[in-house]
Amino acid sequence: MEPTAPSSATESIVVSRCVQICQSKSCRKLGAAGVLAAFQLQPVVNVEVTGCGCFGQCGNGPIVVVSPDQVWYCGVQADEVGSIVDRHLKNGQPVKAMLYPKFHPALHR
Ligand code: FES
Repeated sequence: MEPTAPSSATESIVVSRCVQICQSKSCRKLGAAGVLAAFQLQPVVNVEVTGCGCFGQCGNGPIVVVSPDQVWYCGVQADEVGSIVDRHLKNGQPVKAMLYPKFHPALHR
């Protein structure tokens, strides 16, 4: 008997990375809604994009966190999302110039 491909009803979606974009007050003032929208316009296979609550890093936003990589980006603008998508999410290389120096001091710039 030939093995059969799983039906769409039984297939599970494998999420390898999760991108969380803070949508709380301070980050929204700095453009977080546009950042979330920009990620949603550039979907990547096996990457989940979601808005979330405050990371406690207000004033440094918009804050974007990529898991399980434990990579934090700060001050992300909508027109910079393409760099994160292409370099980090598709090629596994965090964008050093955009890393949050508080958590990535050795890698920043
Ligand atoms: S509002 Fe975004 S980190 Fe606090």
